[in-house]
Amino acid sequence: MGYKNEKLKEEKVFKDPVHRYVHVRDKVIWDIIGTREFQRLRRIRQLGTTYLVFHGAEHSRFQHSLGVYEIVRRIIDDGFSGRPEWDEEERLVTLCAALLHDLGHGPFSHAFENVFDLDHEEFTQKILLGATEVNAILRKVSDQFPQKVADVIDKTYPDKLVVSLISSQIDADRMDYLQRDAYYTGVSYGHFDMERILRVMRPAEDQAVVKSSGMHAVEDYIMSRYQMYWQVYFHPVSRSAEVILKKVLHRAKYLYETGYQFGQAPVHFETFFKKEYDLEDYIALDEGVVTTYFQMWTKEQDTILSDLSARFLNRRLFQYVEFNPAAEYKKLQQLEVLFNQAGLDPEYYLVVDSSSDLPYDFYRPGEENERLPIFLQMPNKELREISRSSDVVDAISGKRRTDHKLYFPEDLLQTGENPLYKEIYEMLNK
Ligand code: NI
Repeated sequence: MGYKNEKLKEEKVFKDPVHRYVHVRDKVIWDIIGTREFQRLRRIRQLGTTYLVFHGAEHSRFQHSLGVYEIVRRIIDDGFSGRPEWDEEERLVTLCAALLHDLGHGPFSHAFENVFDLDHEEFTQKILLGATEVNAILRKVSDQFPQKVADVIDKTYPDKLVVSLISSQIDADRMDYLQRDAYYTGVSYGHFDMERILRVMRPAEDQAVVKSSGMHAVEDYIMSRYQMYWQVYFHPVSRSAEVILKKVLHRAKYLYETGYQFGQAPVHFETFFKKEYDLEDYIALDEGVVTTYFQMWTKEQDTILSDLSARFLNRRLFQYVEFNPAAEYKKLQQLEVLFNQAGLDPEYYLVVDSSSDLPYDFYRPGEENERLPIFLQMPNKELREISRSSDVVDAISGKRRTDHKLYFPEDLLQTGENPLYKEIYEMLNK
């Protein structure tokens, strides 16, 4: 009996507020959870800056990863009726991919990636295949095993059904984060009957499909995504926090590049500023490290860096107004001139943010980034794309509503410290 078949003497369980329990029998899974790269996910929040709006949203990528694993484990171990018996190695590849799919996320993922031009998916691959503890465990299964897990996550694995469990329009990843994010934010959206969906999921040739009798459960799932999208993920105030976070990092990078002498050397960031980082530098980062620097930067001589850092830590966020980039381009230019005259750098204090830059979609039938649409399996076994049967899904599918906002420090403008502030403020609110 090899490592891949090794079971723990006693099953381990993690108490989980969403799935009640997460069950671990496989030694490989247990060993992966114990690695430093996986434990690091405890120190990275699932929803970035959202906790500044929904204070419950402190949950980590660690628990989301366990949740995705648990959903896939249930699908496999409960039979997934109709699929031929799972081969032991394929079962393990699928479980590992579920557990490790978000392994490369960094602190405040979206903002951090944006400023330093990084890609968490690339880091997931690097951690799986590089000189890491996770890689050492996976290699104990077989030499090819780390690559197989990486291929499932990268969606290049030959068995597309396996890929679709972790990455499709109705996959374990989304089913977990919707419920988990709803639970921790405390909103009443985001709930749907996952047990029912798992019961009606059927294996088709290259993806999981849903028995047509389960259509309404899937409608609920898609609606919950739609509502979470606008109520939580695109919340204009958490976007304000993200705008400030990005600007802090931009400012620190700019200062570094122009030879500014920091009071405390930004050791953890230096290789990122220079674009000379390696995997170890990346693994060493987490949200605690980032906010520690922000804390130090509140004492910096550079007033932009110190002000923005303090704004982020103390939640003195920017206010926003709706903005139409096409129609209000001139107005933005005028505002920029006024900001400069008032001694406020518009690069940092007047920011347009567009929701379409954010990586969420609720439902688009078969469009873009190779996500297959959701298919219903009709009683005669024919497959039908869900928006052709469901009026509810049809009504919201394929719509990409972009929403632009203009962010600015209203609190500062209202102090009247500069005679131009009033003019700016009035122009912003016109
Ligand atoms: Ni995920």
